[in-house]
Amino acid sequence: MAYSGDAFQQPEDLVPVRTADGSFTLDSRHLGEHYHSLHGAAAESRHVYIRNGLCASVGRKLAVLEVGLGTGLNALLTWTECVQRNLQVDYVALEPFPVPQEVRAAMAHERIVGGVAWKDGFEAMMTAPPGVRQVLSGGFSFCWQKMRVQQLEDRNAFDLVFYDAFAPRVQPAMWTGDVFGRVARAMRMGGLLVTYCASGNARRAMAAAGLQVERLAGPPGKREMVRAWKRG
Ligand SMILES: C[S@@+](CC[C@H](N)C(=O)[O-])C[C@H]1O[C@@H](n2cnc3c(N)ncnc32)[C@H](O)[C@@H]1O
Repeated sequence: MAYSGDAFQQPEDLVPVRTADGSFTLDSRHLGEHYHSLHGAAAESRHVYIRNGLCASVGRKLAVLEVGLGTGLNALLTWTECVQRNLQVDYVALEPFPVPQEVRAAMAHERIVGGVAWKDGFEAMMTAPPGVRQVLSGGFSFCWQKMRVQQLEDRNAFDLVFYDAFAPRVQPAMWTGDVFGRVARAMRMGGLLVTYCASGNARRAMAAAGLQVERLAGPPGKREMVRAWKRG
């Protein structure tokens, strides 16, 4: 299923499926898409967003924007990394179509990061009302906004962007020059954006928005991913 313009709707047939590394993703037959790679949801998230995003960022105090909160996997892994590396992270995630709580809970993402110690905090994050900031342990705070990236109006606010939209094949309106213009304006000078998607059109849209685009080795099952910098 491909949605043109802004017509995307939350699929109603979301089913948790186990990926190659034992972590879970969501499958929608209606969309013909998964929320993460079947080669390993946690492996993909760690490679793209944590190793090549969070760990490549300069500074110990970071404002992070995630486009597409989905199941909360990137947010959870960021929290654990923040605690382990003694970072201070203020995390904002955009999600116009929240995953139903019972579907998300069935995936038990907290098992990936060692279980029980993270369970209550992760639950607090994912059940919080939109716009209400949750202060968690180890310098991590989290807030989600029920809005589309196309409504983003922030300026010079974020050091790091996790761009985790559905693929251009499914939701082309997420990969336009206009959207990346908004995202670039929301980034601070020196900030970076990471995404699993290395399609030529997506890279050109990022470059048209003034970002400096580089291709890096991809996560398991994918040749490449993209990192894009906002530089003067
Ligand atoms: C690939 S999934 C994200 C996976 C997620 N990062 C995770 O860790 O589970 C893409 C997400 O983008 C969301 N989305 C759809 N349209 C959007 C829009 N216009 N702006 C922001 N997010 C959107 C979807 O609802 C979906 O949750």
